Amino acid sequence: MNRPDVESRADKIRLEGVHKGFPMGQDRKGRLLALQNVDIAIKQGEFVCIVGPTGCGKTTILNIIAGLAKPDRGRVLVDGREVGGPAPDRVVMFQEAALFPWLTVIENVEFGLEMQGVGRAERRKRAEKHLSLVRLSHFRDSFVHELSGGMKQRVALARALAMDPDILLMDEPFAALDAQTRDRFHLELQQIWMKTKKTILFVTHNVSEAVCLGDRVLVLSYRPGRIKKEFTVDRPRPREYRTTPELACITAMVLDELRGEVDKAAKEEMG
Ligand SMILES: Nc1ncnc2c1ncn2[C@@H]1O[C@H](COP(=O)(O)OP(=O)(O)OP(=O)(O)O)[C@@H](O)[C@H]1O
Ligand SMILES: [Mg+2]
Repeated sequence: MNRPDVESRADKIRLEGVHKGFPMGQDRKGRLLALQNVDIAIKQGEFVCIVGPTGCGKTTILNIIAGLAKPDRGRVLVDGREVGGPAPDRVVMFQEAALFPWLTVIENVEFGLEMQGVGRAERRKRAEKHLSLVRLSHFRDSFVHELSGGMKQRVALARALAMDPDILLMDEPFAALDAQTRDRFHLELQQIWMKTKKTILFVTHNVSEAVCLGDRVLVLSYRPGRIKKEFTVDRPRPREYRTTPELACITAMVLDELRGEVDKAAKEEMG
């Protein structure tokens, strides 16, 4: 890898030899090995994407980093300290926006801050700033059912960013959006990332999305999930998939790497 400026930075997130299994079968006595010996090192301010077939353990990795699940073996470090549980330095953004329908847009953005004990005036100020960052200021007093899917995800992004986490963990946040809306989001997320310099770990099925967004793309194998291969995407930002032909070449290489894994997943799903 030829990224001396990035390589010299401290590791923000480290997974070392992480194993994770779940009980399975009717009697719950069997064991499904979801992750096996997963090593990941992510530098401060890096944007890393994980791709892999359905069921390969992508969400499990995010949950473990978020502190929502514990590894059976191995260590998870954030800023060199072992993760003991959820903390405000790590915020997860899910595929479904998970907003509260009885709150307005701005109240939804303020919600996480309220949970953190941030005072009313400061809450409002931070919520307004982040709604403006995601270009939703004029919808601040709307309710969730008045918003499109893309707007809901913008609110969820504003809510996550307003909490000012060091690390943003994103689990297929744009999977439910149409292609045009997703393209616009890709540009906006890159712009926000360049402005805020958060460390982002972004999980997706969509290989072109991963290549468009990531400094690196990690390919996970089908069960048990392991890091099979890593690709570095060394293109200037903000990148736009349609107008950057090199991205299609990298996408083809990642897809090649992924193909066998997707076949394995499909075979197992069909029994
Ligand atoms: N709480 C749980 N209890 C039992 N099994 C689980 C649990 N969470 C995940 N698993 C299993 O672990 C494996 C990995 O699941 P995970 O949700 O991490 O996959 P994923 O890569 O995020 O899949 P997708 O792309 O479909 O979201 C799957 O086989 C899943 O059934
Ligand atoms: Mg998942």
